[in-house]
Amino acid sequence: MSSSDGKIISVVGSGLIGRSWAMVFASGGYRVKIYDNQPGLAAKALAEIRRQFGELEEAHMLRGQLKASEQLALLSSHDDLAQALEGAFFVQECVYEDLAAKRSVFQAVERLVGGDVILSSSTSCLLPSNVFSQVQDRSRCIVSHPVNPPYYVKLVELVPHPDTPDAVMDTAHALMTQVGQAPVRLKKEIDGFALNRVQYAVIAESWRLVQDGVISVRDIDLVMSEGLGMRYAFIGPMETMHLNAPEGLEDYLQRYREGMQRVLASFGPVPQFSGEAADRITQEMCALIPGEQQHLSSRRERRDQLLMALSKMKGQH
Ligand SMILES: NC(=O)c1ccc[n+]([C@@H]2O[C@H](COP(=O)([O-])OP(=O)(O)OC[C@H]3O[C@@H](n4cnc5c(N)ncnc54)[C@H](O)[C@@H]3O)[C@@H](O)[C@H]2O)c1
Repeated sequence: MSSSDGKIISVVGSGLIGRSWAMVFASGGYRVKIYDNQPGLAAKALAEIRRQFGELEEAHMLRGQLKASEQLALLSSHDDLAQALEGAFFVQECVYEDLAAKRSVFQAVERLVGGDVILSSSTSCLLPSNVFSQVQDRSRCIVSHPVNPPYYVKLVELVPHPDTPDAVMDTAHALMTQVGQAPVRLKKEIDGFALNRVQYAVIAESWRLVQDGVISVRDIDLVMSEGLGMRYAFIGPMETMHLNAPEGLEDYLQRYREGMQRVLASFGPVPQFSGEAADRITQEMCALIPGEQQHLSSRRERRDQLLMALSKMKGQH
């Protein structure tokens, strides 16, 4: 028996992220009950997942040990919340990024499940202490923040509520690992978690460099895709420093400490991301990739194909 046998996970909210979570959990052998408060949407999500499973199987990209038909058989759709939660040991909430909506969902969920059920939110930007403020027993609450699309980009940020004990973090970590995601633990909550704080630092400096006429939109994106990004798909900034000096990190700091401090001290203020600079940068971007749907869709498709290939390659390392 595998640890997933017969175990049920409820996914609340059947949009982009809810569907992806359902696919990831089913790939690990879990039974997944999908609920949406818009009648019929959960069933539609299931139909979309059926289509995607078929395509993935054909492309030999289906995750997990089970066939597409076997994974599909683990999924069910529900228009009734109580029915969708029955028997679940873990609830993954994926409703709109709206504090009031999430609070009311967790209040409703808490009334319908036992005290040992883990309540997990997919929120990108809301703090656990806000999301779970109306839950009575917050010790079973956690944020499991995925990266889009979670099927190919496996990082999950696990963020505790101040009342969340290690045991709950451990259970979520084990579950995410077992279904093939790459969980990381934040030791305490912080606005933006880790991923968006790092992402926003990169966006801010890229923006300032383009805004100040130092570099073009095309070239700053190449700095990432042909430069930093090449190694960041495999090693992070800490290991990068450790490997980039003959004697490791201590040596790196001795050589580059002053330079890093000098450059960092020259960074400008937080950009406004609006007004004349935003118009100019948007125009420059749209000259490269026009903003019409057909262009954006084809670039998104390209991105997902590339991520799929990279994810396959990383799986072999
Ligand atoms: N899209 C991303 O890139 C991304 C990445 C990481 C995390 N997230 C987070 O995941 C969550 C979901 O995002 P998404 O992109 O899937 O949104 P979405 O708009 O695609 O889907 C939201 C779904 O929730 C349903 N819903 C709304 N209120 C509900 C309720 N009370 N009960 C049940 N279902 C309800 C909607 O009908 C809809 O189907 C958000 O918190 C978002 O911040 C999104």
